[in-house]
Amino acid sequence: MSTILITGANRGIGLELTKQYAAAGWTVIACCRKPAEAKALRAVKGAVEIQPLDVTKPASLAKLKKALGNRPLDVLLNNAGVSGKRLGFGKTDPKDFLSVLHVNTVAPLLVTEALLGNVRRGKLKKIVSISSKMGSIGDGPAGGAYAYRASKTALNMVMVNAAGELKGKGIAVAVLHPGWVRTDMGGRSAPLKVSESAAGIVKVIDGLDLATTGRFINYDGKPLPW
Ligand SMILES: NC(=O)c1ccc[n+]([C@@H]2O[C@H](COP(=O)([O-])OP(=O)(O)OC[C@H]3O[C@@H](n4cnc5c(N)ncnc54)[C@H](OP(=O)(O)O)[C@@H]3O)[C@@H](O)[C@H]2O)c1
Repeated sequence: MSTILITGANRGIGLELTKQYAAAGWTVIACCRKPAEAKALRAVKGAVEIQPLDVTKPASLAKLKKALGNRPLDVLLNNAGVSGKRLGFGKTDPKDFLSVLHVNTVAPLLVTEALLGNVRRGKLKKIVSISSKMGSIGDGPAGGAYAYRASKTALNMVMVNAAGELKGKGIAVAVLHPGWVRTDMGGRSAPLKVSESAAGIVKVIDGLDLATTGRFINYDGKPLPW
């Protein structure tokens, strides 16, 4: 059976993806900052292995890499993300801005670089990062949340750049918008249930291959403008 590694797997979209992949018989390496506190994650049935990972901490990533060794990963899923303070024009806080960029843009690249050897050893060879339509320039940004929007736009560039470089190694890369989802980040008025979002994401990942690599895709499979 296939193996997927998911970051930020203790709540929200990452937790639901863990449940759905485990229910489908996959082995899930579910990463989170505080495994001891991850009650909902520990309750997921199936082949779920919990690994500690703070995506912004080099020592934590090095420890994960060592724990994985030469183990193949079919799919690497960069899901962990933060919204930051969602500050508007005139309120820019450099510390908040940079910390959002660190988690949402720099960390997915570092995780991808660190675990590339494992993905190369996997059969499916897919790297997927959860982005956001809020990072789409073509979609016409509605204002506000400067750091979050910029972090996802930059994530898209990072991953499409990597898609070009990794295609020759047989690895397919995509960035996905999960929809506006009812999670801690999405809030209560979000229209989409986390189960619907995750089911769509699973389908999109299933259809990802070298012919479709380097795209920005909605959870329902439709392409999104950069
Ligand atoms: N919900 C939406 O409507 C929506 C829309 C567009 C895009 N997204 C994206 O979808 C992804 C998941 O969002 P969500 O709605 O599930 O958010 P969420 O409920 O707030 O969960 C965020 C997850 O990221 C983890 N995380 C944050 N910083 C981390 C770090 N430094 N190291 C490791 N893990 C870290 C959190 O862990 P802790 O519990 O330890 O904090 C948590 O597991 C994010 O990339 C988000 O930007 C969400």
